[in-house]
Amino acid sequence: MNAPLALLAELTHRCPLRCPYCSNPVELTRASEELATGEWARVFREAAEIGCLQVHLSGGEPTARRDIVEITAAARAAGLYTNLITAGVLLDAALVARLQAAGLDHVQLSVQDADAAGAERIGGMRGAHARKEAAARLVRDAGLPLTLNAVVHRQNLHSLPRLVEIALEWGAARLEVAHVQYYGWALANRDALLPTRAQLDEATRTVQAARDAHRGRLVIDYVVPDYHAARPKACMGGWGNRFLAVAPSGRILPCHAAESIAGMAFPNVRETSLRAAWEDSDAFNRFRGTGWMREPCRGCEHAERDWGGCRCQAFALTGDAAATDPACALSPDRALLLAAVAEAGTTEFRYREFG
Ligand code: SF4
Ligand code: FES
Repeated sequence: MNAPLALLAELTHRCPLRCPYCSNPVELTRASEELATGEWARVFREAAEIGCLQVHLSGGEPTARRDIVEITAAARAAGLYTNLITAGVLLDAALVARLQAAGLDHVQLSVQDADAAGAERIGGMRGAHARKEAAARLVRDAGLPLTLNAVVHRQNLHSLPRLVEIALEWGAARLEVAHVQYYGWALANRDALLPTRAQLDEATRTVQAARDAHRGRLVIDYVVPDYHAARPKACMGGWGNRFLAVAPSGRILPCHAAESIAGMAFPNVRETSLRAAWEDSDAFNRFRGTGWMREPCRGCEHAERDWGGCRCQAFALTGDAAATDPACALSPDRALLLAAVAEAGTTEFRYREFG
């Protein structure tokens, strides 16, 4: 059994933005159920003890927590590299300075589109785009490394060349171009978000050209949507292999979307240590390694490369989390994925919201 490398700490589901591509569960956790500051501090210590090197402070919007500075300090005190994954709209100079003093190592700022009108339609918050630009400036002025995270989909892929320019203008050293992954709210809005094959191919060419043009100045990470692929992604680098997440409620998850799998029970940090969850829980052991696989994954030469794809996607598409991910061309359920691709095309989506 490997040690986990990274912890995703979903501090809250609260967020001033309402992006329809959010991978949070459709049933969001309310503030009253969130872990307290001291509970997060214990989680960070336990994560470091079992081998985690870094923590992604995420949400929802992590700065919606009034104790975000104390939480950051606790992560740093545990010896973890701290990355703040933020929409940026709640950041001001004083908060950036306090976060930096608390030991924040890195900021990952989301951007919804290249222009204010498009970005604010997708994010569902007026004025957000200008605030993000200001947040980028604050982060850079503080000397903190900045990654821009552009989640791309059918309704903003036309802006990709301009998003690359924005990453350069805003002073990011890294741009993550991440096609939407279809869990939670994104799955509910899939018909409005799934790109066409032509859009995907164009985006891939744009990323390649931008990498060549800006080599040494801007690193571009590229996460592709596997709805157009012949082989699935090695989701999470394998279930229970390198990664764990803790939800706002304290549930300990092998991946951030695992709660979407009906019928699975997850340990909670209020009752179980991270070590016990990682090593002994049914939730983490259920799909660990290759022993759980059925054909065509069982015995397949790719089994230890893609780990049978994504368990959450297998469940979302087939109703069986132990099925081969239909993103694999060898899956007997491949037609379900192809049908979803064929049906996509609406511009209407539903904003993420509580209740
Ligand atoms: Fe991967 Fe399973 Fe497809 Fe083989 S059959 S390529 S292991 S998903
Ligand atoms: Fe959960 Fe892939 S998102 S295993």
